[in-house]
Amino acid sequence: MKVLVVGNGAREDALAWALARSPSCSVLYCAPGNAGTGRRGENWKIGATEGKALATRAREVGIDLAVIGPETAIAAGVSDKLRDAGIVTFGPSRAAGRLESSKIFAKRFMERHGIPTARSQVVRSLANAERALADWSGGCVVKADGLAAGKGVIVTPDAVSALAVLREWYGKAGVPGGGTDVLLEEKLEGRELSVFAIGDGKRFVPFASACDYKRAGDGDTGPNTGGMGAYSPPAGFPDGFVEVVQQRVLDAVAAGLAEDGERYVGVLYCGLMWTAKGPSVIEFNVRFGDPETQVMMPRVRGDFAALLASAAGGAIAPEAATLSSDACVGVVLATADYPRSSTPLDGLPADVDLGEGKVAFWGASALNAAGRVDSKGGRVLTVTALGSTLSDARGNAYAAVDELAERMGAGSSLTYRSDIALVG
Ligand code: AMP
Ligand code: GLY
Repeated sequence: MKVLVVGNGAREDALAWALARSPSCSVLYCAPGNAGTGRRGENWKIGATEGKALATRAREVGIDLAVIGPETAIAAGVSDKLRDAGIVTFGPSRAAGRLESSKIFAKRFMERHGIPTARSQVVRSLANAERALADWSGGCVVKADGLAAGKGVIVTPDAVSALAVLREWYGKAGVPGGGTDVLLEEKLEGRELSVFAIGDGKRFVPFASACDYKRAGDGDTGPNTGGMGAYSPPAGFPDGFVEVVQQRVLDAVAAGLAEDGERYVGVLYCGLMWTAKGPSVIEFNVRFGDPETQVMMPRVRGDFAALLASAAGGAIAPEAATLSSDACVGVVLATADYPRSSTPLDGLPADVDLGEGKVAFWGASALNAAGRVDSKGGRVLTVTALGSTLSDARGNAYAAVDELAERMGAGSSLTYRSDIALVG
């Protein structure tokens, strides 16, 4: 099969790595790709949201399977454009993508179809918000409705603090994402995990689970980021948690989509809080997670390309690829200014090969004429390692981080969390 990966982050490098190793994948392309994907296959100079150009090139080349990475491509309707051009595509339509691109759409969907989630209320102005918060008790999570690149969710301890955020948004800064609608949500207590399920348009099959670390600093301090590290499988959740998620969440989502006349082909990322009553959905994403993908792909055994192709073709063959029982830990190396800004870092060494069981994935970057890597900064690399236990994987990952941080020579300008996968 000729396979195309759309996107340019470390998530796409990890997808490209797993797809390139799949027996059924003969040639791999990435658009626009990065310094890592350029080593796994060939990069196209076409942006991830340029649906028309992607569809044209995919037809010319005879792509057998397109895999969509980022939510921006889904929200731009790239899956629809590729499918309209007759390309078998793993990635949901723009319409189904509203489960991620609109928090209010997702909330209404969950309420309509009995999917466990926090109680909530929608407000559209400061006056609205003041009324809604007048008799609010407990913590309040304030969520902007649209895609806001991680800046649209603020967890507050009480109504007074929530109102301070809303005064800032409505009064001065503007609601993140540019809209006016805000969801106020009951603050849930518990531990978070992400379950990734593959949809073939009829049902969802759980594929893998992971825990990620969203805050910039050790001990979950500092600002929210896209994710500073992750590990898979999750530790410390009840036995059989996947079956519970299948029953209460995945089967209910499949039934709800069928009732709404929507077909979902692609990965469904369920961001869950495991509360005293079991799983509650914090958010749906309609794509693989970053950095969760980087710790799931090294665990894949079998033919990942065949798995995604079967789902994209409408009849998932779950046995095509399975996950090893090994644990995998991933640590993100980021520029020190992340997430406030991302200063480009040019001329990094291209050689990030590590020993057996360790892989480093490049974030947004490109190989320059001198054969070195120009990174866009921010999340520069995700360094991953396998181990037979979580603690072994963690030791291996940090050994690899030390080696690579030194090799990068960027010295103090690359930072990372030192407590990824430190559980219990
Ligand atoms: P989201 O963008 O919806 O994933 O939210 C970002 C982060 O905010 C989540 O990963 C949680 O840590 C936190 N969060 C969101 N909603 C809630 C909630 N209802 N209760 C507690 N924490 C939440
Ligand atoms: N790691 C969080 C995300 O991909 O949204």
